[in-house]
Amino acid sequence: MNNLRHMMNPLDFSVEELETLFDLAGEIERDMPGYAHKCDGKILATCFYEPSTRTRLSFETAMLRLGGKCMGFADASNSSAAKGESVADTIRVISCFADICAMRHPKEGAPMVAASRSSIPVINAGDGGHQHPTQTLTDLLTIRSLYGKLSDFTIGLCGDLKFGRTVHSLINALSRYEGIRFIFISPKELKVPDYITEMLRQKNIPYEEVIKLEEVMPQLDFLYMTRVQKERFFNEEDYIRLRNFYILDKEKMAFAKEKMYILHPLPRVNEISVEIDDDPRAAYFKQVQYGLYVRMALILTLLGIE
Ligand code: CP
Repeated sequence: MNNLRHMMNPLDFSVEELETLFDLAGEIERDMPGYAHKCDGKILATCFYEPSTRTRLSFETAMLRLGGKCMGFADASNSSAAKGESVADTIRVISCFADICAMRHPKEGAPMVAASRSSIPVINAGDGGHQHPTQTLTDLLTIRSLYGKLSDFTIGLCGDLKFGRTVHSLINALSRYEGIRFIFISPKELKVPDYITEMLRQKNIPYEEVIKLEEVMPQLDFLYMTRVQKERFFNEEDYIRLRNFYILDKEKMAFAKEKMYILHPLPRVNEISVEIDDDPRAAYFKQVQYGLYVRMALILTLLGIE
């Protein structure tokens, strides 16, 4: 029987499987040395056709902390993609060298093509404006750890909701939990795509779309800030016009609940003022730490290591 499993979309795992994954991430957090040799002899390939700091290095440190080794490329121009090699051929080659692969690609669906040709687990580390499942696992684990559960809260998603793949992945994933209310905060040019609001309508999940952050701030248990995705704009003029639309500062935070958490997938450009970093509600650097634990748990799970 072929037990090969990939992670293309957070919905690839059932809610129960995610609970098991998060429990494992929690055990890893409590006992990192206990996991130091779980991946002895294993190799992770990171194939990044798009820039990254967190995701690539988080995967690499996850594998190193599990006792495995890493190889790969951080710049497609240094790989044979520059000579015209397809993703399908590249993954067949990588399958001969590594035990598991994390792939980021600017084209939506490219990691899925890789998975269909791969003989090792492939993890989608972000594909265009589509999905970023391991950021979503990070976000879910952060919410669960800070709030104690993945249900019964109001989350505001603010900024570039059109191009932000982390937003699309997170809404999809949260749509399976009870009692979640979404507030989408964006300029009209960067609204969340229709296919997402349609999915929410079909599932009778409450959402509203607003432009002004201050208006809805008092209702939020979580505020998920995002940067305006410069690399996905068709013209620079629009980007320049929209890039400073939201800047979270002390003045706006005065409207927030005392226990509202601020999340951000990072990188930040200027949408959260650095003066907020010392606010106890700022959870975006904690989020990075949870990303390590959940990626360690995911590597173990996809490799079938107990
Ligand atoms: N959150 C995230 O995907 O960051 P990087 O682009 O630095 O990997």
